[in-house]
Amino acid sequence: MLELQGVSAGYGGGDVLQGIDLTIVPQSVTCVLGPNGAGKSTVLRVVSGLVRPRLGKVTLGDRRIDGLSPPEVLGLGVAHVPQTGALFPGMTVRENVLMGGYLIRRQRKLLAERYSAVVNLVPLVAHRADTPAGTLSGGQRRMVEIGRSLMLDPAVILLDEPSLGLDPQSLEAVTVLINRMHDNEKTVVLVEQNVRLGLALSTHAVVLEGGRVRLHGTAQEITEHPDIASLYVGAFVQS
Ligand SMILES: Nc1ncnc2c1ncn2[C@@H]1O[C@H](COP(=O)(O)OP(=O)(O)O)[C@@H](O)[C@H]1O
Ligand SMILES: [Mg+2]
Repeated sequence: MLELQGVSAGYGGGDVLQGIDLTIVPQSVTCVLGPNGAGKSTVLRVVSGLVRPRLGKVTLGDRRIDGLSPPEVLGLGVAHVPQTGALFPGMTVRENVLMGGYLIRRQRKLLAERYSAVVNLVPLVAHRADTPAGTLSGGQRRMVEIGRSLMLDPAVILLDEPSLGLDPQSLEAVTVLINRMHDNEKTVVLVEQNVRLGLALSTHAVVLEGGRVRLHGTAQEITEHPDIASLYVGAFVQS
């Protein structure tokens, strides 16, 4: 169980997150929705250790993880795929994916096993293994980024707008991949601008607005919520 309790956090110019309480059910796919600037990416950064909360705490199981460094959080099984990709453009797809196993680089056998598992989930990694990452399409890069994040076999995967800017074929591939992560009993936290897609992919959803939790429930509850219609047209009803 991943939990945020009373989390206030920002970037030095006041709090962006204003007291977030959020419980992520193990093995759920939770979609984080909300307008631009609501704090969706900041929630993921707080969980992965990139942003340290000013107030409140983040727990993974019975362990407190706020205050840990990003590599420490990764080592505990929480992988983060940020909104803007960070592949090394001059390195091949294989090299980029293997970088995701940096923490287990000395365990050669385990590294090879994990690489096979990633190839199995993301066949593109094998098909384009020797291709420099910088020459891939946006959709292909997204798949490689997600594949790289799976090298440590994380229990929790944080995906920031995986569908952003993808062509329909890549979108379908990302959808299949998220469904397979769910089948593999991963806990997925997914930030999505595309409300319809996000809710279709998810078991649970949370709507953020102005750094606060506006709605939280199962994907079905959120889909049927009377306020959700306004999300589809990008305007939030003022409460
Ligand atoms: N690195 C940063 N430095 C300063 N302010 C930031 C930074 N990243 C985000 N912000 C601000 O924090 C707010 C929330 O950002 P973010 O969490 O990225 O929103 P969302 O992902 O919901 O669009 C915005 O007002 C944004 O300008
Ligand atoms: Mg964002």
